[in-house]
Amino acid sequence: MSSGYESQRLLDQYLLFHYGIPAQILEGASVFHGEEEVEGLHFPEATVWSTLMLDRYEEKDQDELRALDVGCAVGRSSFELSRLCAEVLAIDYSQAFIDAARLLQTDREVSVRRYDEGQLETEIRITCPEAVNPERVNFELGDAMNLSSTLGQFDIVHAANLLCRLPEPRRFLYRLPELVKAGGQLILATPCSWSEEFTPKENQPEGSTLEFVHASLDETFELKREIELPFLIRDHARKFQLSTSQTTVWLRK
Ligand SMILES: C[S@@+](CC[C@H](N)C(=O)[O-])C[C@H]1O[C@@H](n2cnc3c(N)ncnc32)[C@H](O)[C@@H]1O
Repeated sequence: MSSGYESQRLLDQYLLFHYGIPAQILEGASVFHGEEEVEGLHFPEATVWSTLMLDRYEEKDQDELRALDVGCAVGRSSFELSRLCAEVLAIDYSQAFIDAARLLQTDREVSVRRYDEGQLETEIRITCPEAVNPERVNFELGDAMNLSSTLGQFDIVHAANLLCRLPEPRRFLYRLPELVKAGGQLILATPCSWSEEFTPKENQPEGSTLEFVHASLDETFELKREIELPFLIRDHARKFQLSTSQTTVWLRK
Protein backbone atom coordinates (compact mmCIF):
# COMPACT_ATOMS: atom_id res chain seq x y z
CA MET A 1 0.00 0.00 0.00
CA SER A 2 1.20 3.53 -0.71
CA SER A 3 -0.37 6.58 0.92
CA GLY A 4 -0.24 8.36 -2.45
CA TYR A 5 1.83 11.13 -0.89
CA GLU A 6 5.21 10.45 -2.50
CA SER A 7 5.44 12.84 -5.49
CA GLN A 8 7.81 15.80 -5.48
CA ARG A 9 5.01 18.18 -6.36
CA LEU A 10 2.90 17.07 -3.42
CA LEU A 11 5.92 17.29 -1.14
CA ASP A 12 6.59 20.87 -2.25
CA GLN A 13 2.90 21.71 -1.84
CA TYR A 14 2.81 20.37 1.72
CA LEU A 15 6.07 22.07 2.74
CA LEU A 16 4.60 25.37 1.53
CA PHE A 17 1.25 24.64 3.24
CA HIS A 18 2.90 23.83 6.58
CA TYR A 19 5.80 26.30 6.70
CA GLY A 20 5.26 29.01 4.08
CA ILE A 21 4.59 32.50 5.38
CA PRO A 22 1.36 34.03 3.99
CA ALA A 23 3.26 36.23 1.48
CA GLN A 24 4.98 33.13 0.03
CA ILE A 25 1.74 31.14 -0.18
CA LEU A 26 -0.29 33.95 -1.72
CA GLU A 27 2.25 35.53 -4.09
CA GLY A 28 0.81 36.08 -7.56
CA ALA A 29 -2.73 35.30 -6.44
CA SER A 30 -4.78 38.31 -7.48
CA VAL A 31 -7.96 36.77 -6.03
CA PHE A 32 -6.86 37.62 -2.49
CA HIS A 33 -6.73 41.18 -1.17
CA GLY A 34 -4.65 41.45 1.98
CA GLU A 35 -3.52 38.40 3.94
CA GLU A 36 -5.54 39.30 7.02
CA GLU A 37 -8.74 38.59 5.03
CA VAL A 38 -7.58 35.17 3.85
CA GLU A 39 -8.99 32.13 5.58
CA GLY A 40 -7.20 28.84 6.00
CA LEU A 41 -3.64 29.98 6.64
CA HIS A 42 -1.87 28.48 9.70
CA PHE A 43 -3.99 25.29 9.77
CA PRO A 44 -1.28 22.94 11.18
CA GLU A 45 -0.74 25.38 14.05
CA ALA A 46 -4.49 25.82 14.61
CA THR A 47 -5.17 22.08 15.00
CA VAL A 48 -2.88 22.25 18.04
CA TRP A 49 -3.36 25.71 19.55
CA SER A 50 -7.08 26.29 18.80
CA THR A 51 -8.05 22.90 20.14
CA LEU A 52 -6.07 21.77 23.18
CA MET A 53 -7.53 22.35 26.62
CA LEU A 54 -4.34 23.95 27.91
CA ASP A 55 -5.75 24.68 31.35
CA ARG A 56 -5.37 20.97 32.08
CA TYR A 57 -1.59 21.32 32.19
CA GLU A 58 0.60 23.04 34.71
CA GLU A 59 4.06 24.20 33.71
CA LYS A 60 5.72 21.58 35.87
CA ASP A 61 3.84 18.80 34.01
CA GLN A 62 5.33 19.83 30.72
CA ASP A 63 8.63 18.03 31.33
CA GLU A 64 6.71 14.79 31.16
CA LEU A 65 4.07 15.27 28.48
CA ARG A 66 4.14 12.80 25.59
CA ALA A 67 2.37 13.47 22.29
CA LEU A 68 1.67 11.36 19.24
CA ASP A 69 1.00 12.98 15.85
CA VAL A 70 -0.39 10.42 13.39
CA GLY A 71 -0.38 11.35 9.70
CA CYS A 72 2.08 14.13 10.54
CA ALA A 73 3.07 14.73 6.86
CA VAL A 74 6.01 17.17 6.83
CA GLY A 75 5.67 17.79 10.54
CA ARG A 76 4.47 21.30 11.33
CA SER A 77 1.94 20.24 13.98
CA SER A 78 4.53 17.87 15.49
CA PHE A 79 6.95 20.77 15.91
CA GLU A 80 4.14 22.87 17.41
CA LEU A 81 3.47 20.07 19.92
CA SER A 82 7.16 20.16 20.85
CA ARG A 83 6.63 23.63 22.35
CA LEU A 84 4.47 22.00 25.01
CA CYS A 85 5.57 18.37 25.23
CA ALA A 86 8.86 16.80 26.23
CA GLU A 87 8.49 14.03 23.69
CA VAL A 88 6.63 13.93 20.36
CA LEU A 89 6.36 10.82 18.24
CA ALA A 90 5.39 11.81 14.69
CA ILE A 91 4.29 9.07 12.32
CA ASP A 92 3.46 9.14 8.62
CA TYR A 93 3.14 6.56 5.86
CA SER A 94 5.06 8.63 3.30
CA GLN A 95 8.84 8.17 3.27
CA ALA A 96 9.22 11.42 1.28
CA PHE A 97 7.32 13.41 3.94
CA ILE A 98 9.23 11.84 6.82
CA ASP A 99 12.57 12.51 5.08
CA ALA A 100 11.62 16.17 4.52
CA ALA A 101 10.55 16.59 8.15
CA ARG A 102 13.84 15.09 9.33
CA LEU A 103 15.80 17.40 7.04
CA LEU A 104 14.02 20.43 8.49
CA GLN A 105 14.74 19.12 11.95
CA THR A 106 18.49 19.07 11.32
CA ASP A 107 18.98 21.94 8.83
CA ARG A 108 16.14 24.20 10.09
CA GLU A 109 15.73 25.54 6.53
CA VAL A 110 15.00 23.88 3.17
CA SER A 111 14.28 24.87 -0.43
CA VAL A 112 10.83 24.39 -1.89
CA ARG A 113 9.61 24.76 -5.46
CA ARG A 114 6.46 26.81 -5.45
CA TYR A 115 4.28 26.27 -8.53
CA ASP A 116 3.17 29.46 -10.18
CA GLU A 117 1.80 28.50 -13.61
CA GLY A 118 2.44 25.73 -16.15
CA GLN A 119 6.16 25.07 -15.99
CA LEU A 120 6.91 28.26 -14.10
CA GLU A 121 8.03 27.75 -10.56
CA THR A 122 9.87 29.79 -7.95
CA GLU A 123 12.41 28.44 -5.52
CA ILE A 124 11.71 29.67 -2.02
CA ARG A 125 13.29 28.94 1.36
CA ILE A 126 11.11 27.80 4.21
CA THR A 127 12.23 27.55 7.81
CA CYS A 128 11.41 25.57 10.90
CA PRO A 129 9.50 27.95 13.20
CA GLU A 130 11.25 29.79 16.01
CA ALA A 131 11.06 28.52 19.56
CA VAL A 132 9.99 24.98 18.74
CA ASN A 133 12.10 22.16 20.16
CA PRO A 134 12.96 19.99 17.15
CA GLU A 135 15.15 17.69 19.23
CA ARG A 136 12.05 16.53 21.11
CA VAL A 137 10.41 15.16 17.94
CA ASN A 138 10.98 11.67 16.61
CA PHE A 139 9.76 11.26 13.00
CA GLU A 140 8.98 7.66 12.07
CA LEU A 141 7.55 5.86 9.08
CA GLY A 142 4.43 3.95 10.10
CA ASP A 143 0.88 2.94 9.32
CA ALA A 144 -1.96 4.46 11.35
CA MET A 145 -3.95 1.25 10.94
CA ASN A 146 -1.15 -0.92 12.19
CA LEU A 147 0.64 1.06 14.88
CA SER A 148 3.24 -0.84 16.87
CA SER A 149 2.03 -2.38 20.11
CA THR A 150 5.06 -0.93 21.94
CA LEU A 151 4.27 2.79 21.55
CA GLY A 152 2.95 3.15 25.09
CA GLN A 153 0.45 5.83 26.08
CA PHE A 154 0.27 9.54 25.32
CA ASP A 155 -1.11 12.67 26.97
CA ILE A 156 -2.06 14.06 23.57
CA VAL A 157 -2.88 12.24 20.35
CA HIS A 158 -3.30 14.44 17.26
CA ALA A 159 -4.53 13.18 13.89
CA ALA A 160 -5.32 15.94 11.41
CA ASN A 161 -6.83 15.27 8.00
CA LEU A 162 -5.94 11.61 8.24
CA LEU A 163 -9.18 9.70 8.90
CA CYS A 164 -10.71 9.99 5.42
CA ARG A 165 -7.39 8.99 3.82
CA LEU A 166 -7.39 5.55 5.48
CA PRO A 167 -8.63 2.37 3.78
CA GLU A 168 -9.90 1.13 7.16
CA PRO A 169 -10.57 4.14 9.40
CA ARG A 170 -12.21 2.01 12.10
CA ARG A 171 -8.95 0.13 12.67
CA PHE A 172 -7.31 3.41 13.62
CA LEU A 173 -10.26 4.57 15.76
CA TYR A 174 -10.41 1.28 17.67
CA ARG A 175 -6.73 1.59 18.59
CA LEU A 176 -7.12 5.05 20.15
CA PRO A 177 -8.40 4.11 23.64
CA GLU A 178 -5.19 2.17 24.22
CA LEU A 179 -2.99 5.05 23.06
CA VAL A 180 -4.46 7.92 25.10
CA LYS A 181 -3.81 8.05 28.85
CA ALA A 182 -6.78 8.47 31.21
CA GLY A 183 -7.42 12.23 31.26
CA GLY A 184 -5.48 12.65 28.00
CA GLN A 185 -6.70 14.54 24.94
CA LEU A 186 -7.41 13.33 21.45
CA ILE A 187 -7.61 15.81 18.57
CA LEU A 188 -9.25 14.51 15.43
CA ALA A 189 -9.62 16.80 12.44
CA THR A 190 -11.21 15.68 9.20
CA PRO A 191 -12.61 17.45 6.15
CA CYS A 192 -14.86 14.39 5.70
CA SER A 193 -13.70 14.16 2.07
CA TRP A 194 -14.49 10.49 1.71
CA SER A 195 -13.49 8.99 -1.61
CA GLU A 196 -13.13 5.46 -2.94
CA GLU A 197 -9.65 6.46 -4.09
CA PHE A 198 -8.65 6.04 -0.43
CA THR A 199 -11.47 4.23 1.41
CA PRO A 200 -13.64 1.46 -0.04
CA LYS A 201 -17.29 2.42 0.20
CA GLU A 202 -18.10 -0.31 2.73
CA ASN A 203 -15.56 1.21 5.15
CA GLN A 204 -16.85 4.78 4.81
CA PRO A 205 -19.44 6.24 7.21
CA GLU A 206 -23.01 5.62 6.10
CA GLY A 207 -24.23 8.69 7.95
CA SER A 208 -22.26 11.68 9.21
CA THR A 209 -18.58 11.34 10.02
CA LEU A 210 -19.22 12.67 13.51
CA GLU A 211 -21.77 9.90 14.21
CA PHE A 212 -19.28 7.37 12.87
CA VAL A 213 -16.55 8.66 15.19
CA HIS A 214 -18.98 8.83 18.15
CA ALA A 215 -19.90 5.18 17.60
CA SER A 216 -16.24 4.15 17.93
CA LEU A 217 -15.21 6.49 20.74
CA ASP A 218 -18.16 7.08 23.05
CA GLU A 219 -17.42 4.21 25.37
CA THR A 220 -13.95 5.46 26.25
CA PHE A 221 -13.90 9.18 25.35
CA GLU A 222 -16.02 12.24 26.06
CA LEU A 223 -16.43 14.82 23.32
CA LYS A 224 -15.40 18.21 24.71
CA ARG A 225 -15.09 20.54 21.72
CA GLU A 226 -16.14 20.73 18.11
CA ILE A 227 -14.92 23.45 15.76
CA GLU A 228 -14.48 23.93 12.02
CA LEU A 229 -10.95 24.89 11.01
CA PRO A 230 -10.38 26.19 7.47
CA PHE A 231 -7.31 25.23 5.44
CA LEU A 232 -5.98 26.65 2.21
CA ILE A 233 -3.67 24.69 -0.09
CA ARG A 234 -2.01 26.32 -3.09
CA ASP A 235 -2.06 24.36 -6.36
CA HIS A 236 -0.67 27.29 -8.35
CA ALA A 237 -1.00 31.08 -8.43
CA ARG A 238 -4.57 30.98 -9.75
CA LYS A 239 -5.82 27.85 -8.03
CA PHE A 240 -6.23 27.28 -4.31
CA GLN A 241 -8.21 24.64 -2.45
CA LEU A 242 -10.16 26.05 0.50
CA SER A 243 -11.71 23.41 2.75
CA THR A 244 -12.73 23.16 6.38
CA SER A 245 -11.89 20.40 8.76
CA GLN A 246 -14.36 19.21 11.37
CA THR A 247 -12.15 19.26 14.42
CA THR A 248 -13.11 17.50 17.61
CA VAL A 249 -11.37 17.26 20.96
CA TRP A 250 -12.02 14.20 23.10
CA LEU A 251 -11.08 13.53 26.69
CA ARG A 252 -10.08 9.98 27.60
CA LYS A 253 -12.32 8.76 30.44
C1 LIG B 1 -4.16 15.11 4.00
S1 LIG B 1 -2.59 14.78 4.69
C2 LIG B 1 -2.68 15.61 6.26
C3 LIG B 1 -1.34 15.89 6.84
C4 LIG B 1 -1.27 16.77 8.09
N1 LIG B 1 -1.69 16.09 9.29
C5 LIG B 1 -2.04 18.04 7.90
O1 LIG B 1 -3.02 18.23 8.64
O2 LIG B 1 -1.68 18.84 7.05
C6 LIG B 1 -2.71 13.07 5.13
C7 LIG B 1 -1.42 12.50 5.65
O3 LIG B 1 -1.68 11.18 6.13
C8 LIG B 1 -0.64 10.33 5.68
N2 LIG B 1 -1.19 8.97 5.64
C9 LIG B 1 -2.01 8.42 4.73
N3 LIG B 1 -2.27 7.13 5.05
C10 LIG B 1 -1.61 6.88 6.20
C11 LIG B 1 -1.48 5.75 7.05
N4 LIG B 1 -2.09 4.60 6.76
N5 LIG B 1 -0.71 5.85 8.16
C12 LIG B 1 -0.09 7.01 8.47
N6 LIG B 1 -0.17 8.11 7.70
C13 LIG B 1 -0.91 8.06 6.59
C14 LIG B 1 -0.24 10.88 4.33
O4 LIG B 1 1.05 10.42 3.94
C15 LIG B 1 -0.32 12.36 4.59
O5 LIG B 1 0.86 12.86 5.12
